[in-house]
Amino acid sequence: MANIILIGFMGCGKSSIGRFMSTKGYKLIDTDSYIEERENRKIKDIFETDGEEYFRDCETAVLKEILADGKDNYVIAVGGGLPMREENRLLLHKLGKVVYLKASVASLMSRLKGDSKRPLLQGKSLEERIRELMNLRESTYESVSDVIVSTDGRSFERIYSIIEQKIR
Ligand code: S3P
Repeated sequence: MANIILIGFMGCGKSSIGRFMSTKGYKLIDTDSYIEERENRKIKDIFETDGEEYFRDCETAVLKEILADGKDNYVIAVGGGLPMREENRLLLHKLGKVVYLKASVASLMSRLKGDSKRPLLQGKSLEERIRELMNLRESTYESVSDVIVSTDGRSFERIYSIIEQKIR
């Protein structure tokens, strides 16, 4: 299928670039928003009430639904932890081209400062949490992606045009 899937760490700009691309002819699905609408509650509440595993099951269910619907020409921005499940990685490849939006810890820090919506960033120091999760995830992001695009210091327009060039 000819969708574009945006993966990457929390705060790397998946949702913003997804919204930008939706002004360029793509239809947009943001898996976090999709789950919040479906569940009629915020991700923070889902984690608090039903736990992370339940949320991860919701993510897998969304991917299966998109695939079963035969959606095409979509840009799909997925939550930062979604590619960590092997089943999800297989589904992502069936859905389209996987683009890893790569950002430095410094730029993630500046985007995520003061965040209270993301349960996995609460508690410890933000930098420590980012580094810890990034160590666990980066090699998976890199190996699952068809294309890697650095976002640091680049405009949405520029990132969009690099994505288009690289996936064609
Ligand atoms: C998560 C990332 C979040 C959201 C949830 C868990 C993660 O999405 O799915 O808080 O595990 O990295 P964003 O990457 O859009 O912030």
